[in-house]
Amino acid sequence: MFDIITIGNDVLKEKATLISDIDDNIINLINEMTEILEKKNGVGLAAPQIGEKKRIFITKVPGDILRVFINPEIIQTSQELETYEEGCLSIPGVWANVVRPSAIIIQAYDIKGKIFKIEVDGVLSRVIQHELDHLNGILFTDRLNDKQREKVLKIYDRKNNPK
Ligand code: NI
Repeated sequence: MFDIITIGNDVLKEKATLISDIDDNIINLINEMTEILEKKNGVGLAAPQIGEKKRIFITKVPGDILRVFINPEIIQTSQELETYEEGCLSIPGVWANVVRPSAIIIQAYDIKGKIFKIEVDGVLSRVIQHELDHLNGILFTDRLNDKQREKVLKIYDRKNNPK
């Protein structure tokens, strides 16, 4: 079982690479990610969070099916922005309001290698944008202003590195 990598590890800052072939290794990775997401009761998980620099993430938003996104690409974002509180399995114990486009159109490959395109809003749109950021080495704290980031990271340190 992989461990979830937490903030401070450089893997989380790196750009993940495209998948050229959905082989057994990739299927195993996705199964592993699914197991971890369920265990952690999360809504989304990206491969770099378990140390795999690959362009894959999964989502499981309450009331929705498990979704797998391989080589995902956001092809359109709404002008309208939305503020929503985000957390991250790689930054456990802290949450902050992040502003992002409210709706997106995303294109990706599914586990069978079939390309699909969906338009989403609400929580799923939010989770997808957050997870896609992981594939580009971006954490939700990178989307905060300096003052907010400092505050959130201070709380994180206090909770995770007690004196
Ligand atoms: Ni995250």
